[in-house]
Amino acid sequence: MELKRIKIKELLLSKDFGSEVNVKGWVRTKRGNKQINFVALNDGSTINNLQIVVDVPNFNEDLLKKITTGAAISVNGKLIESTGSGQNVELEATEIQVLGVADPEKYPLQPKKHSLEFLREKAHLRFRTNTFSAVFRIRHAMAFAVHEFFNMKGFYYMHTPLITGSDAEGAGEMFRVSTLDPKNPPLNEDGTINYKEDFFGKETNLTVSGQLEGELGAMALGEIYTFGPTFRAENSNTTRHLAEFWMIEPEMAFYDIVDNMDLAEEFLKYMIKYALDNCMSDLEFLSKRLQEEEKGKKADEQSMELIEKLRFVLENDFVRLTYTEAIDILRNSKPNKKKKFQYLIEDWGADLQSEHERYLVEKKFQKPVILTDYPKDIKAFYMKQNDDGKTVAAMDILFPGIGEIVGGSQREESLEKLLARMAEMNIPAEDMDWYLDTRRFGSATHSGFGLGFERMMLFVTGMGNIRDVIPFPRTPKNAEF
Ligand code: 4AD
Ligand code: MG
Repeated sequence: MELKRIKIKELLLSKDFGSEVNVKGWVRTKRGNKQINFVALNDGSTINNLQIVVDVPNFNEDLLKKITTGAAISVNGKLIESTGSGQNVELEATEIQVLGVADPEKYPLQPKKHSLEFLREKAHLRFRTNTFSAVFRIRHAMAFAVHEFFNMKGFYYMHTPLITGSDAEGAGEMFRVSTLDPKNPPLNEDGTINYKEDFFGKETNLTVSGQLEGELGAMALGEIYTFGPTFRAENSNTTRHLAEFWMIEPEMAFYDIVDNMDLAEEFLKYMIKYALDNCMSDLEFLSKRLQEEEKGKKADEQSMELIEKLRFVLENDFVRLTYTEAIDILRNSKPNKKKKFQYLIEDWGADLQSEHERYLVEKKFQKPVILTDYPKDIKAFYMKQNDDGKTVAAMDILFPGIGEIVGGSQREESLEKLLARMAEMNIPAEDMDWYLDTRRFGSATHSGFGLGFERMMLFVTGMGNIRDVIPFPRTPKNAEF
């Protein structure tokens, strides 16, 4: 009789002792002696392994030799109550089948701790480690929480295009999409490339943001959100930048900047609560891992324990202050006076670097901070211009250990003001006619923001490098796998 396969997560909670079941998974470790072997089996359903007890004399020696770290096996066995500590159940094997061997001479993952750097080079196999399986289970849960939150609030999930003809953020950091022959492109009379002959009959790129199309949706459906990949050709080789990352961009009609901030804070807290409610065993594993890593550090350099940190953010209001107030705080701060910042804050108007953001969040307030009303010259063209003529109704949310996690704003709803700002910034209005129509016909107050999904993942998992929270990171000079 073929036994029903049960996932390890379910089996570990079972009290059906004596029942016969089948499990399938990958061997993490095997230990024991000539009489008895213990195999730790993992099938990805949980961080916890199932202990398989193998009575050695009952099995073929060659078969047992093939049970090495990384091999895929199928085991029939009897569920028994565990006498050892840690787990309630183990499986007494009656029949073992090796589905796929993993030659220990060649299999790159050994039953020991590997560095994250090493595992990045083996990104195709790193899912099989405890750390990465925990991270990617949490990533799934966070993506699910995004949809649950917005669905619950009556927002519509809108699929905005990945190939676009516009630069939403105006930062010029785009990847070109073209089918022209790079060696012999068609040329205009003045020697420039003739994109009229390209696939789309114009210059196109991978999108840096779905916002502009999202605004069109919001101005009809009321409240929408996008959640998709986003591409930026910025040459930032940092632990917080990817060339391909996932962004969540809600856009809401009839929301002003305060409504926007309230929604963003509620959303971030919802995601954190979802992780605490649904991913505890993975979080506990990652927390222990972090504590091990921090052992060598001095007391004042150690960060808050992961789960405690998540609860802390959940239970406290975010601090809200204006850019102008932040500049005053930074200008008078110790690291500025002692010239410890790499970029010293002197004048109003300076762009904030991550060192400044982290000072505000980690040293000054020790809480997430929402900064508003930035100088218009360091922000995008679409942001609502404030009455002072200098600032815009922007809001960035800064998180401990991360810096900027959310960027958003109320949008400029006046056609005249928007056109004037675009002219100042040399953004050709002809190309944006479709966008400007929302301001021509039935314009209204509206707002939105973008959450970098991987930056949120960094915060929730406590991982230190953004390359370790996306399955296959794309960064400058790296598009392996
Ligand atoms: O602040 P940004 O550039 O804002 C926008 O794109 C707006 N269109 C959003 C909106 O209002 N709808 O990006 C938003 C967030 C950042 O706060 C950051 O978390 C993340 O996206 N982000 C990146 N994450 C990883 N790698 C990169 N290179 C990122 N660039 C931005
Ligand atoms: Mg930003």
